[in-house]
Amino acid sequence: MKLTQEQKDFVADLLSRMTLEEKIGQMNQESPSIVGGFDVPFSELIEMLTDGRLPQEEFEKIMSTAKQDFHEEDIRAGLVGSMMVKDPRENNRLQKIAMEESRLGIPLIIGFDVIHGFRSVFPIAIAEACSFDDELFEKTARMAAKESRAHGINWNFAPMIDAARDARWGRVSEGPGEDPCLGSRFARAKIRGLQNDRSSVKNYVAACTKHYVAYGACESGRDYNTTSMSVSNLYNIYLPAFRAAMEEGAATVMAAFNDLNGIPCTVNRWLLRDILKGEMGLEGFVVSDANAIRECVAHGIAENDRDAGVQAAQAGMDMDMGTHIYKDFLKAEVENGTMPMDVIDEAVRRILSVKVWLGLFDNPYVPEEDIEAYEKGLPTEHIALCRKAAEESMVLLKNEGNLLPLSRKQKISLVGNLADAADEICGAWAMAWKKEDCVSILSGLRSAGADVEYYPCGGPEGEINWDETDRACEAGDVIVAVVGETDAMSGEASSKADITLPGKQQALLTRLLSSGKPVVTVLMNGRPLALQWEAEHLPVILEAWHLGIRMGDAVAAALLGDINPSGKLSSSFPAVTGQCPVYYNHPSTGRPGSKSKFTSRYLDAPWDVLFPFGHGRSYTSFGCSDLQVSEAGDSLEVAVSLKNTGEREGTEVVQFYVQDVSASLVRPVKELKDYRRVSLAPGEEQEIRFTLPKTALGFYDNEGHYRLESGLFRIFAGGSSRDTLEAEIRLLF
Ligand code: BGC
Repeated sequence: MKLTQEQKDFVADLLSRMTLEEKIGQMNQESPSIVGGFDVPFSELIEMLTDGRLPQEEFEKIMSTAKQDFHEEDIRAGLVGSMMVKDPRENNRLQKIAMEESRLGIPLIIGFDVIHGFRSVFPIAIAEACSFDDELFEKTARMAAKESRAHGINWNFAPMIDAARDARWGRVSEGPGEDPCLGSRFARAKIRGLQNDRSSVKNYVAACTKHYVAYGACESGRDYNTTSMSVSNLYNIYLPAFRAAMEEGAATVMAAFNDLNGIPCTVNRWLLRDILKGEMGLEGFVVSDANAIRECVAHGIAENDRDAGVQAAQAGMDMDMGTHIYKDFLKAEVENGTMPMDVIDEAVRRILSVKVWLGLFDNPYVPEEDIEAYEKGLPTEHIALCRKAAEESMVLLKNEGNLLPLSRKQKISLVGNLADAADEICGAWAMAWKKEDCVSILSGLRSAGADVEYYPCGGPEGEINWDETDRACEAGDVIVAVVGETDAMSGEASSKADITLPGKQQALLTRLLSSGKPVVTVLMNGRPLALQWEAEHLPVILEAWHLGIRMGDAVAAALLGDINPSGKLSSSFPAVTGQCPVYYNHPSTGRPGSKSKFTSRYLDAPWDVLFPFGHGRSYTSFGCSDLQVSEAGDSLEVAVSLKNTGEREGTEVVQFYVQDVSASLVRPVKELKDYRRVSLAPGEEQEIRFTLPKTALGFYDNEGHYRLESGLFRIFAGGSSRDTLEAEIRLLF
């Protein structure tokens, strides 16, 4: 995000004309408050929604008739800088008040959680990352930006780029997985997609990278929990995606809820001022997470709201999401001299700069024809991209006996409540999907011309209908079982202490297997699951995640062989929950896990992951050979030969890893450095070359300094983090 001198002057002039109250108003974000219109208090409604007493659809119906306060009076008085609203006409109305009825006519920046698409819902991020397709990451973000703007939203609370190594944490679904290299490439592509098409204000929004930082390392995988880690771990694993996003010009950042080594990110001056704004050079602003400033009182770091607000503003938190603490307390603090005016001015300058960069002063409204265009339905190219993204995001974990793909001549018994749950396919953070756009797996199979009979039998919750299960077993030539999690079982506030298949689904699968018919399992879920039993007993497992509105078309295409799965895991799958946190790039231990007793292992479970990062099968097979490594000036040249050794065309993701064999700090056993999607015809062979600047072989130490250390490096290349060829090279820095 770069401003011209003229734009900077505009901001400076505006700032010089603002009253203190108006300035603090810019630092205040509001969302519509629910003020009544139903029988129970709003807090209880939310509780009912959370504990499942109130279905989502019912909740939305109630909300559509609820009375809401859009804070018009405060907007008019210049006391609101940002709103969170998704309705385009409502957004136009509020913008009009800000533009025409407030003293200085400053537009609102309108934020919303467009995490993986707005109405065109793409796969959840952990799934999309499995495509290892940077071009796709960018395209889906660009489309999300366009759709957001057409609804009056100019600030997307995305990408979520928290590295996540613990599948118990429900929010693993929202981010690109466990690896800093994949996470950084994902972050860069998303920022480009959201922000870079500036040919029209209709095409870009301000990105909000979140949650800064180390939220994914919350202790025991429990959401909002404390995080402790070394500086080197922070710098090497959790900061790289944010650094990449800043290099790409991300306009804003949302701070995380957690404390890091005892200081909540919300009031953490070192993280916000020194690293983010200083070292990484954020040009735009930082917003708190919802209610997080007030939560500093609960953290026991502030005595009261006023204290929390002062600490946050001084630490560099520019905007308060949802508490009014800045609005209520900062003015007095400035007036009595405890809060320097500079702190306020800096925050407001940053916020206004983003508004100017967004073109909001000249183009605050959504044209009515753009609103109407979406009301007519989704454009075909949006539907096509949703489908393509879904197709690339599936991971074939196992395909024993090449049971897949199925033929259209086979009679399929489709089993599982999730198979026809069109309202479960979009994942936990999709907020604007419409039922008429959603394709369930059953509908997808039907429209693809499969011979399919549906037997719901049961799902992640509740009982199994055994009679129906037996009928399903008798009827089909092949059974396709769709099992997994509902969308509410992952996402925010959805941590789990047991990540095996929920409910009685394992018993359902056992019964299906006992029929002796071939069983194909499709997983629909938002986190890596612990699949030890499933991997041992089920011949075929297709990981399909929550793939967004065209999930059914994509799954049908994979099952019937119209496409060849190419996804690779962005997160390792443990064998059992007790292994969590578990990830491929763990530091080398003195006693690596093995069969011997006194090694880093468990007595009652494997020490290694079940399906590792980067794993994913295809309907064809690939072989890597002839790994060569050499130095070329400041770079390392790696070449490997890839051959399609099977009988179908297919796409392999070639992965290139490095290990620093001996360093002054314990380094990971393997670290991804680059990857490439390569499509090959049967029998075709290609040499794949990677060029890596040697400076990428360093690491951060515990002072946050980047170190390049001479010595021996191992180089790996292959089709997963586990199956790799290996070479060595000695480098001198
Ligand atoms: C979440 C954020 C989200 C915000 C606004 C919070 O609870 O942690 O990810 O952007 O709400 O909806």
